[in-house]
Amino acid sequence: MSMAGLVSSASASAPRCDHTQAWAALHGHHQAHGRSLDLREAFARDPQRFARFWLQAPELHADLSKNHWDVATQRFLLDLARECQLEARRDALLAGAPVNHTEGRAVLHTALRAPRGLGPFSAEVHAVLDEMLAFAEKVRAQAGQPYTDIVNIGIGGSDLGPAMAVTALEPFAHPGLRSHFVSNVDGHDLTATLRHLKPSSTLFIIASKTFTTQETMANAMAARAWFDAGMPAGADRSRHFVGVTTNLKAAADFGILTTFGFWDWVGGRYSLWSAIGLPIAVAIGAEGFRALLAGAHAMDQHFAQTPLEANLPVQLGLLDVWYRNFHGYSSRSVAPYHQGLKRLPAYLQQLEMESNGKSVDLQGEALPFGTSPVVWGEPGTNGQHAYFQMLHQGTDVVPVEFIAVKRPLHGLADQHQKLLANCLAQSQALMLGKTAEQAAGEHAPTASPQIDRAQLARHRSFPGNRPSTTLVMEALTPRSLGALIALYEHRVFVSGALWGINSYDQWGVELGKALCAELLPRFAMAAQQSPGALEGLDTSTAGLLQHLSA
Ligand code: F6P
Repeated sequence: MSMAGLVSSASASAPRCDHTQAWAALHGHHQAHGRSLDLREAFARDPQRFARFWLQAPELHADLSKNHWDVATQRFLLDLARECQLEARRDALLAGAPVNHTEGRAVLHTALRAPRGLGPFSAEVHAVLDEMLAFAEKVRAQAGQPYTDIVNIGIGGSDLGPAMAVTALEPFAHPGLRSHFVSNVDGHDLTATLRHLKPSSTLFIIASKTFTTQETMANAMAARAWFDAGMPAGADRSRHFVGVTTNLKAAADFGILTTFGFWDWVGGRYSLWSAIGLPIAVAIGAEGFRALLAGAHAMDQHFAQTPLEANLPVQLGLLDVWYRNFHGYSSRSVAPYHQGLKRLPAYLQQLEMESNGKSVDLQGEALPFGTSPVVWGEPGTNGQHAYFQMLHQGTDVVPVEFIAVKRPLHGLADQHQKLLANCLAQSQALMLGKTAEQAAGEHAPTASPQIDRAQLARHRSFPGNRPSTTLVMEALTPRSLGALIALYEHRVFVSGALWGINSYDQWGVELGKALCAELLPRFAMAAQQSPGALEGLDTSTAGLLQHLSA
């Protein structure tokens, strides 16, 4: 049996988290200590708490000390990881075992960032990478003549990763090329983008793993029509449309002559490292893209080789299980204190919720516990003036993940200090809170003189003891961004593996697609008042369809 086969069969026999002794022990621990842990007391008791929970990984550090756990919790969670054979399952993933068993596929995004000669499929991976980067450099060399605007048309994993990374790496981008991302089938997306562009200076990248996705195909066809209408007859369309896909034939049928391929073992939401990263490569250049890959690879090595105790993706994944299944926290807020990371929460929503939003285990048995939390957020400080009220005083406890970046790439040092002070102040406020007694001693400038002071103090108090993690990056660069994204990818694997689910399929998106295909012709029928338009529909859908198509 091959290495991949061996590790794959080892992981198939691994117990699900709730069938382990550690799970029962964690329940006991939660009842006895975990649920009543008070962060303020924990810090007062243990002067070493910060140092104990301060972890280093490639390109970043993590402060895990403001979380609802202690050394004993960590020990029980590590027992859980070992009982669930997490290391064997990680090795199976990295060796290319078919861990996406419902689609019979390996999951090898890590191979896309392995240095030449290392990792599975190295020859194929590096051949496409070299070709794709050479093309990106060619486009960059033609900045201004003919290209001024690059439009990526794709959705989900063919949009969110590149859009997030290009936004994050804006200071590294070619100044003569503007990047645009069109994803929504809503025609407002494409028309708003094209309104300001000229066909002669636009390069479209049609990005779709399958090259069948409704939204992408509709936008690609509309873009092609816009190009043809705006150019003289006989203009060379092939210089303005390139494809990125595993379905080379469909791209050729569309009329695209330049196509960069990838493979079925690259999941859509894990694909920014493949040719799907072309818009990133055009924006930041070949060297920048290689640095992004190198940062991710460094995190892969950390994940593969670091003992579980000091392995950051493992620790974050364990904490996710602890919060979801023992504390019952059903969402996590991500607050990057860097404007460049404004698309990170949207990217993480697909990464985490499409991966781990499952309710059956590998055998298809219904799970008796919760899986993916809702992941959401906005960059700081914007979020502070929107939903942080709920984080501080709402009835639900939401663990928050702050991302702080030490060195900005702008010259406004004073503003950067304000940004960082805000970031630390929020995690501090969540933890410390404020008692009604403390609030009663203050005089709030906008408080009504009519209201009783004790009552007002209750409005102005904070429960505190609200958990957070702070990730700290030195600077936001291609390399550190690569490491950050890989950290999240592996963390999602860890919680998914313990939950015993397939993190790499996404059957949950299929039903809506099928029903949409069934409803679409009904709109045309309803517009012609054809009697069959509403036949067999529930009355709500029928009523809405009738109203919308009248
Ligand atoms: O939403 C489902 C999904 O299949 C995602 O997993 C994927 O990233 C997206 O659609 C786009 O798919 P494609 O790249 O094939 O167009």
